[in-house]
Amino acid sequence: MRINLSLAVLAAASGADAFWRMECRGRLSLARIDPLVSPGEVAAHAHAIHGSSGFSEKANYEDLLKGDCTSCAVTQDKSAYWTPAMYFKHANGDYQDVPQVGGMLAYYFLNKDDGNPGGGIKAFPEDFRMIAGDTLRRNYTISGQDASQPDPEKSRWASLGQTKQTDLAQRALGYNCLNYDKQAEGSLYRHYLPDKAYLDANCIQGVRIEIMFPSCWDGKNTDSPDHRSHVAYPDLVMTGSCPPGFPVKLPGLFYETIWDTHAFAGVEGEFVIANGDVNGFGYHADFMNGWEVPFLQKAVDQCTNLSGRIEDCSLFDIQTEDEQRMCTIDAPSALSAEKVAGLIGNALPGNVKIQYGPGPATAKNPGSATVPVDVPTVTYSEGHSATGSSYTQGLIFHELSTSVGVDAQAQPTSVGVNAQAQPATTPAPEPPADDGKYEIVRTEYVTSGDVVNMIIIKEAVEYITVTTTTVTATVGGAKARRGAHLHRHGRRHRL
Ligand SMILES: *[C@@H]1O[C@H](CO)[C@@H](O)[C@H](O)[C@H]1NC(C)=O
Ligand SMILES: *[C@@H]1O[C@H](CO)[C@@H](O)[C@H](O)[C@H]1NC(C)=O
Repeated sequence: MRINLSLAVLAAASGADAFWRMECRGRLSLARIDPLVSPGEVAAHAHAIHGSSGFSEKANYEDLLKGDCTSCAVTQDKSAYWTPAMYFKHANGDYQDVPQVGGMLAYYFLNKDDGNPGGGIKAFPEDFRMIAGDTLRRNYTISGQDASQPDPEKSRWASLGQTKQTDLAQRALGYNCLNYDKQAEGSLYRHYLPDKAYLDANCIQGVRIEIMFPSCWDGKNTDSPDHRSHVAYPDLVMTGSCPPGFPVKLPGLFYETIWDTHAFAGVEGEFVIANGDVNGFGYHADFMNGWEVPFLQKAVDQCTNLSGRIEDCSLFDIQTEDEQRMCTIDAPSALSAEKVAGLIGNALPGNVKIQYGPGPATAKNPGSATVPVDVPTVTYSEGHSATGSSYTQGLIFHELSTSVGVDAQAQPTSVGVNAQAQPATTPAPEPPADDGKYEIVRTEYVTSGDVVNMIIIKEAVEYITVTTTTVTATVGGAKARRGAHLHRHGRRHRL
């Protein structure tokens, strides 16, 4: 048996870049509309849509600006934000929409290009639009990994050859299991949708789907034929350096939507994303800029309070949640009869069929569903955040009794998530001496018997997360079983 302990020390607010958390409490529509992929037509699958009421199947930048309301909090933001919706397929074949909780959040992370920090951050230009993720993807391919393994520490990605754009795009997806009685999981920690048994047992408040957009721009094209190739990820997904050819750093967009999967606890069936994807590898998101560019530039330059609260920027005009919810649009006439909510019959909207991997889904989706692939059912929980941040994503939806995040006075807790885990009891490492720097990355190994403790120390800290992972590897290549045992050491110190 081999036991690894990894200690991920998360970034402190003092060392982090600014961001805002754009709330969009209202949902404009739940409909098969997608002006990027299917302009002027009915889209392939149903989307949860937020933002400007100027949105439509053929909306452009001018249309968004002309919208007379937005379902987001800041009235100057007439952007459009959309993602596929989530459905539940009952055992008898009937589909039902999964309730979406609290609208959506669109984070604007103001991280500079590490390779060119002097370049600053440019507002999205007029007409700018992009897609994150790939609706046809049905597998996870990062070398030497399967989706059920936690990501290696970010400082190792480059040496492991895991910074190709296709790798980064797969790591830009997160399925966060919500249980507000436990410590929150890290953002972008798990890159697949857990199966229903796992969701039922663990994710009492449902699942939060997260997706990070590319934030490096070619500086020329506001769109591209695939709506992706004019932008690229920096080499750590949210932070890091932009690749050659993408010299302009944009705000880093990160969407979160929460789906109340627990409403179906104990009901036989499976969850499926509206594009016919049950494992979640094909989740994606769309963005169309609807800001006046000079205003957005001013906000990017001036709204830099580390709190992330839009209220802390005096430029923003903020409307109430009720006003956000009142902003809706009607589905186009071609869709007015389509049932997208409640029990909707024995097909997904658009008659989308479930398509399993590992090969890509077909664009036309003829419904040639093949055998289900092995859905990872690993039961690890909290771990290091692939974003390396300690931002409290999603907390806006729920007041945690134990606060987590940049100001957390976390209580030491111990959360057993798997009866089969044999957690190592590990002494909390001593805080390293203060050497006055922030971006320290250091790895230490402590061996005791057959226990190897790996300690990774990164950046300045205000709190520490310790994850003890037990891996039982059976000789002969049988499946590894993984459990997790969590300790939280709520101590404040600096490196
Ligand atoms: C940031 O916002 C907080 C309130 O959340 C406020 O107390 C603080 O003064 C602000 N800081 C700056 C630099 O404006
Ligand atoms: C995995 O998905 C990618 C992207 O859809 C595809 O190109 C590749 O062929 C798939 N791999 C397998 C083994 O099917």
